[in-house]
Amino acid sequence: MASGSDATTGSAVALEDVRKTYRLAEPVHALDGVTLEIPRGSYTAIMGPSGSGKSTLMNLVGCLDTPTEGSVVVDGREVAGLGERERTRLRGTTVGFVFQTFNLMPRLNALENVALPQLFQGVGRNERRERARTLLERVGLGDRTDHMPNELSGGQRQRVALARALVNDPAIVLADEPSGNLDTETEADVLDLFAAFHEGGTTMVVVTHERHVAERAERIVHLLDGRIERIEELEPTDRGAGDPPEPGRSDGRPGSNR
Ligand SMILES: Nc1ncnc2c1ncn2[C@@H]1O[C@H](COP(=O)(O)OP(=O)(O)O)[C@@H](O)[C@H]1O
Ligand SMILES: [Mg+2]
Repeated sequence: MASGSDATTGSAVALEDVRKTYRLAEPVHALDGVTLEIPRGSYTAIMGPSGSGKSTLMNLVGCLDTPTEGSVVVDGREVAGLGERERTRLRGTTVGFVFQTFNLMPRLNALENVALPQLFQGVGRNERRERARTLLERVGLGDRTDHMPNELSGGQRQRVALARALVNDPAIVLADEPSGNLDTETEADVLDLFAAFHEGGTTMVVVTHERHVAERAERIVHLLDGRIERIEELEPTDRGAGDPPEPGRSDGRPGSNR
């Protein structure tokens, strides 16, 4: 990225002194003055204890919600001033979501689930199906297009969800605890896919409780009580390798080679 470029065009997301207060009997300051810039094409992990504001932050970055105070600029647009309809439109073209619980439509097969977000973008039926098929192939599920969600494993469902998140070619992919429901091996596959999409230029933002998941990113934003406690920059050598382990590095446990 060219140095000295305009901060707005260089950023996928720019938060400026963002506050989000929930007015209950006692006000809850879910975010309490967060300033954060997420460069285009970067890979950011967000960590913090339960209740520290991670999901609130993701909802703002994903244009699902507006801040109580402060500025949230996503892909060059100020979200705070947008109405519900405009936010929905911005979200549909800019952001892809991956949730811990996958959130697939139970009565739609894998292909239909992946194709669905394009429906709201005015893409024709054949093109929708074609694109959905391409993405399912990319996540290794080209042979599962007509399976229903309950006919897929947890890891396969998460890969369908990832394909769906990417189908509109979003600038930003947001994942909130994406591997929380996956076993170690399928988690590694999903994280490899995240790395591949990051390599392809997608801005990745991943919320996680797991240090080894966060270490796949370029930096870790640590949240505490609605504030950024610190930002940890990771050296490429610190980051988990995207390649499968070499035979010589195997842990020697029987059956660990797949
Ligand atoms: N819709 C809401 N109404 C009231 N309080 C909320 C709401 N959403 C989140 N909170 C509160 O805001 C704080 C941050 O929540 P959240 O962003 O979900 O944290 P995290 O994802 O890090 O666990 C918590 O204290 C939570 O109880
Ligand atoms: Mg959360």
